[in-house]
Amino acid sequence: MLRRTIDRSLFEQMLEKLEQGVYPQWVMTDPEIFELEKERIFGHTWLYLAHETELKKPGDFVTRWMVHDPVLLVKNRDGEIKAFLNSCTHRGTILCAADRGNSRAFTCPYHGWTFNMDGELIDVVAGDRLYGDKMKRHEWNLRPIPRVESYHGLIFGNLDPNAMPLTEYLGDMKWYLDILLKRSDGGVEVRGTPQRWLVKANWKNTFENFTADTYHVQRGHGLSVVQARDGSFPWQATPPEARPMFERNLAPDQVELLKRTIVFVGGVFPNFCFLSPVHRAGEHMHNYLTVRIWRPVGPEQVEVWSWFLIDKAFPEDYKEEAYQGYLATFGPSGTLEQDDTEVWARVVEANRGLMVQDKDLSYNNVSNYLLGYGHIERDESFIGPGIAFPCTYNDHLARSIHRYWLELMMDETAPSGEGRR
Ligand code: FES
Repeated sequence: MLRRTIDRSLFEQMLEKLEQGVYPQWVMTDPEIFELEKERIFGHTWLYLAHETELKKPGDFVTRWMVHDPVLLVKNRDGEIKAFLNSCTHRGTILCAADRGNSRAFTCPYHGWTFNMDGELIDVVAGDRLYGDKMKRHEWNLRPIPRVESYHGLIFGNLDPNAMPLTEYLGDMKWYLDILLKRSDGGVEVRGTPQRWLVKANWKNTFENFTADTYHVQRGHGLSVVQARDGSFPWQATPPEARPMFERNLAPDQVELLKRTIVFVGGVFPNFCFLSPVHRAGEHMHNYLTVRIWRPVGPEQVEVWSWFLIDKAFPEDYKEEAYQGYLATFGPSGTLEQDDTEVWARVVEANRGLMVQDKDLSYNNVSNYLLGYGHIERDESFIGPGIAFPCTYNDHLARSIHRYWLELMMDETAPSGEGRR
């Protein structure tokens, strides 16, 4: 029988199923679940917005999305990066329609109200004449995103003013992110602009696909650390002259892990993922960092945003070759991107029928999360924090992601969008 509402008993059923290593298939693309996710997941978690090196000079701006909230990030005269709802306070249209640029002020295309780099309303067309001299302009400034915090250049926003600090939210994942973000003097920088494209997929599917292969740290965040048995590509094929710098900037255990790892690939719940691979570009092997978000635009569609980052301190020719390698491998025209995209779309298609949508599970419509369940033991000797497993073929992390998802979805005490305002 098809039910029209998501009540608590259905979530309790999901939790019970999850502890058995299976998960109802209908949950993936259900429209009512998606509406609740927007509120309870994306309304309270930290969402990636930009990298600080995208905004270098006062007036530099980029526009982004927090699911369906448009965001304008701009560097002000004092060098601070501010983030506002990109919606004019007069009648609500998108204020800045450009993806990026440099501007001292933002003039609305509708009736011409103008805001400065601090979001202050500085000009109203015929303001004194039409609104009278009692108009308090400061009451019509742009609305700031409630929380904006950075971690080594990664800027995240949160719509919940009471959310835990970003560094606390990242938890043990910081130790691993530091290996990629802190190892070089000057950190990493963005090259080019983020690529973006639409995929027929559900965000949970894409996040889990990227994140949940091997071992996990807290809160549904996850990471795979891929190493070669024969020790090939030590230090991720980074320039040899950079290695003393890595040793200076990282703790000994982080250096040890970096030395023997080829690929780091992971994610921060709910929709931020990162990949630090080794690829051939031109004559040589190269390493870089790419970060991406899976922005849900509906239960069956994701807008992928993908950034290329690389250590500022690396030689210029190495950086450019690595960038060319990234373009050929990832993104809408990349050779590695396309096979997953095809099956994600087929998951969506298979989920539309009556059998899958049966919430009573009469047809046993559950997905299998039993890989390694009960017979792959934790690796207590792993040198990094978190809970580690020795094998990439393991659903422990995927179950953790869904458990955290359930925890948030069942939290009826979380303030609604109404409450936040
Ligand atoms: S909607 Fe922006 S000035 Fe009217």
